[in-house]
Amino acid sequence: MSLNDILVPASGPSVGLEHDPVAGEQLQQAIAPPNWPLHFACFVTGTDTEIGKTLISSALLHALVQTGVRACGMKPVAAGAVQRGGVWHNDDADLLAAAGNVAMLSSLTTPYMLQEAAAPHIAADLEDIIIESVPILAAYTEIAAASDAVVIEGVGGFRVPFSDGFDSADLAQQLGLPVVMVVGLRLGCINHALLTCEAVKARGLVLAGWVANEIDPEMRFADENIEALLLNIPAPLLGRVPRMAQPSAAAAAQHLNFSSLPNWPANRI
Ligand SMILES: Nc1ncnc2c1ncn2[C@@H]1O[C@H](COP(=O)(O)OP(=O)(O)OP(=O)(O)O)[C@@H](O)[C@H]1O
Ligand SMILES: [Mg+2]
Repeated sequence: MSLNDILVPASGPSVGLEHDPVAGEQLQQAIAPPNWPLHFACFVTGTDTEIGKTLISSALLHALVQTGVRACGMKPVAAGAVQRGGVWHNDDADLLAAAGNVAMLSSLTTPYMLQEAAAPHIAADLEDIIIESVPILAAYTEIAAASDAVVIEGVGGFRVPFSDGFDSADLAQQLGLPVVMVVGLRLGCINHALLTCEAVKARGLVLAGWVANEIDPEMRFADENIEALLLNIPAPLLGRVPRMAQPSAAAAAQHLNFSSLPNWPANRI
C-alpha cells in the first residue's frame, strides 16, 4: 500500500509523492496547469523523542506561511491527549495548527489522537485501536488538496512501532515524501543520526536535509559533533538552532534556511 494506490489521478497538481525530488518536480510540472503552484510536503523525523521535531516542524510551517502559501501541519499519530471543552487536544497537534494557516478538522490532521502519553502501540492498545495507514494516507490526501504545503511530524524516532508489522518508517515510505531529520544535539546523537539516515535510505526515501538542534545546554563538543555529522550525513544542513530561553516557531525559523528543500515555494518564482 502506498499513497499512490489511494490517489485518483486528477487534473490538479500532484501532492509530492515521488521519491526522487527531481522526477517528482518534473511530474508535477507536467500535469499542473500553468501558474498552479507546486505542492510542498515533507516528513519530519528525529533522532529520538523530545529532540525538537515539533519545534522544527512549526518553524517550517512558519516559514511556509511567510512565503504566502497555505500551509498545514499534520501529526498523524499523537500519544498524550487531554479533553478541554469536550474536545481532545494534543500539544504537538495544537502547536502545528498554530504555526500553519489552514484550519482542518483535527480528525484529519491527527487521525490517531491517543489519550495515554506512551509509545503509540501501547497507547493504542489501551483504547483497543489498531493504527493503520489508510486513514492517515486518506487524511493526508484531503489536507494536501486544501493546501499548498504540508508538514508531517513523525512520532519519536524513525522506527517507532504503531502496530504489528507497521511502524513510523513504513508510514513515511507509504507517504513517499522527502524526509527532514532533526538531530537533537546530545551525547549519542551521531550514532542515532546515522542509523536514521540508513533507515531512511533503506526505504528508498530522500533525506532532503537535517537540522542541528541544541537541546542540551550541558552538551560539550557541540561543534565537533556537528563536524562529524556534516561529514557523514548525505544531505544539507538546514541550520543550527541554539538553545533558546523562549523557543518558538518564529525564533527557530530565524536560524534555518529551507530553500534547498524540494519544491520549497520561494524557489518556484
Ligand atoms: N532549541 C531549543 N531551545 C529551547 N528549547 C527547545 C529547543 N528545541 C526544543 N526545545 C524544547 O524541548 C521540548 C521538546 O521539543 P519538541 O516538543 O519539539 O520535541 P519532539 O521531538 O517534537 O518531541 P515528541 O517526540 O514528544 O514529539 C519542548 O519543550 C521544546 O520547546
Ligand atoms: Mg513533537
